[in-house]
Amino acid sequence: MTLKKHMLNRRELIQNIAAVSTVRAVGGVGAQQSRSISVAERVLALSDMAIELTRQGWSRPERNCRSKGKSLTIGHRQFKSGLGTVADSILQIDLKGAAKAFSAWVGPDAVGGPSACVRFYVVVDGRVAVRTPAIKGGSAPVQIFVNLKGAKKMLLVVDAAGHHTWNNYADWGDAAITLQAHATALPEAQRYEPDMSVPEIAHGNSEQPEFHGPQAIGTTPGKPFIFRIPVTGSGKINLSVTGLPAGLELNQQGVLRGSVEHGGSYKVEIVARNHLGRTSRRLEIRAGERMLAQTPPMGWSSWNAFGVNVDQEKVWRAADLLVRSGLAGKGYSFVNIDAGWTGQRNSAGRIMPDKTKFPDIKALIDHVHALGLKFGLYASPGPEDCGGFIGSYGHEIQDIQTYAQWGVDYFKYDWCSYGQTITATPKTAEYIEPYAIMGQAIGTVDRDIVFSLCQYGMADPWKWAAGPQVRGNLWRISDDLIDFWASVCVNGFHCDRNIAAYAGPGHWNDPDMLVVGTMDFTNAGLGFPGKPQPSRLTPLEQQTHITLWSLLAAPLIIGCDLSKLDPFTLDLLSNTEVIAVDQDVLGKQAQCIKQIGCIQIWARPLADGTAAVGIFNLGPVAEKASVRWSELTVILPRDMVLSGKQPTRDLWMRRNLGHRDGLDMELPSHGSMFVKVGRPRPAVGR
Ligand code: GLA
Repeated sequence: MTLKKHMLNRRELIQNIAAVSTVRAVGGVGAQQSRSISVAERVLALSDMAIELTRQGWSRPERNCRSKGKSLTIGHRQFKSGLGTVADSILQIDLKGAAKAFSAWVGPDAVGGPSACVRFYVVVDGRVAVRTPAIKGGSAPVQIFVNLKGAKKMLLVVDAAGHHTWNNYADWGDAAITLQAHATALPEAQRYEPDMSVPEIAHGNSEQPEFHGPQAIGTTPGKPFIFRIPVTGSGKINLSVTGLPAGLELNQQGVLRGSVEHGGSYKVEIVARNHLGRTSRRLEIRAGERMLAQTPPMGWSSWNAFGVNVDQEKVWRAADLLVRSGLAGKGYSFVNIDAGWTGQRNSAGRIMPDKTKFPDIKALIDHVHALGLKFGLYASPGPEDCGGFIGSYGHEIQDIQTYAQWGVDYFKYDWCSYGQTITATPKTAEYIEPYAIMGQAIGTVDRDIVFSLCQYGMADPWKWAAGPQVRGNLWRISDDLIDFWASVCVNGFHCDRNIAAYAGPGHWNDPDMLVVGTMDFTNAGLGFPGKPQPSRLTPLEQQTHITLWSLLAAPLIIGCDLSKLDPFTLDLLSNTEVIAVDQDVLGKQAQCIKQIGCIQIWARPLADGTAAVGIFNLGPVAEKASVRWSELTVILPRDMVLSGKQPTRDLWMRRNLGHRDGLDMELPSHGSMFVKVGRPRPAVGR
């Protein structure tokens, strides 16, 4: 007799278990040491527990089978009982002092195919009792056995072992808890509540004037130029500039406007003064052909906050809030509308906004420009975009001309339905074609437009998107980023050394918009929550997310509702030193230089001769991490030798840590440390 029925009441369950007399063979980690049990034992199958409480980023935990009635299958072996989940996932079990042992066969489910890769952990009372190696899709199941005598709490954890994909389906096959002979209570599955405490990070701004954001910006001579100087400080701040190229001027609102008359590199000196002091900064204006996005674009997009319910009022307010919250003062300058703005074409084929949502898009764009900010729009090369709205297919040149007339400065072009127009198994050239058509068209309009490719990394866009054919400035490398840990891992930690070299001034890998703050993924069509809610990443994971994006030189496009900004989100988005790493003018994307167990160390060289280093714990429990600065030589240019003790600065705390030759620390699960190492070279001559 086995326990098949799921929702038996507690009393029935205890009675049933008492009657169970099952003989099972269980072993240690791996198939090495099988142990046979000759006596009758009382066994509680995992599938008879409340496995729906499993916390996993997407999809649902499955009992005894995969959706559409497929069995749980690891390698060639099928399991009638067990839990089917997707990495990263975690289930907590209160053992009630009743357990003797836990056993299971684990591995990636066949449904994930050969590219899946997962690792299983059993954490008992805060200690990792079992950690399997990374198990690849197609591998035979691995048998695990854990002694639970005296244990109180068990966590069943699956992660991606650093191989993050969306298809990391993972099974706990024939998983069961063997009970103590005289146990009266029963182990109980519980929802794992992650640590939601807010990490300590620097808060607020200095009262003295301070500059932020990019130190190099690009423009095409003769085309409109607009740049709101990112500066903070208390009271009235007076700005003055010297060395401006002919054609530009600084207005009363601290915005540089005009159009640069001649190509060249202009070193502009900006001075900011308030009643407390003065500071200056060198801003380089690079005027020439194809000079946009000298540093990764920073701004806000409507998608994560409003989905297709975006409208003129919401975007208008977002632009105002970008200024009022101080985020524009930190360098966030684009206000982008994603899917949901489009109406129909008029009789001349000209694209029109949906008038019910955007009664006067030109007025909105003028308002954004009046604030010194820039405006972005979205469309698809296909007949329809991902929201089902009209795409640019067959109207590419006409559309981009319309956008340029409206004053669009940033254009996101999303593959969506384009696949319907080409062969079922497209060659790389077919992936490139729609972007080349639009890229060339953008080059013909009399306005600078940052070109953002969105096709989820198909056919390795990093290899061709920035080339002369397409002229892209950034390209998505993966699927949409959602607010859960596995997604941050898929998009962020996947952005590794194979593609790092493709990023640089003018062309960036894009792991997608930021998922901190209050968002609403209802309209993302992914079956996620039906109401605005704070990021489901824990505060620590949010900090790790921003740390990683900064190291990756990722575009920093805020995705949250700015009217619901909480102080922690604001601090995360506006830490000037973290932004400075992202915006560093050398434009070198970080690479993972070292991995020890669950710890990954990423680093990037910076223009001032220092290095930014991120230390991450991707595992399920706190881990000791150690890094020596001498290890950074793998990624540093030859003239940047960081030997011996180096000045080390905690970027999130904005605090010096003294002179060190490395760092040793204990990092919480999914936590990170972000430091800058080395003595900055003097600015002169850079
Ligand atoms: C795709 C993109 C998202 C967003 C939506 C809009 O999913 O990847 O960033 O633009 O479409 O429908």
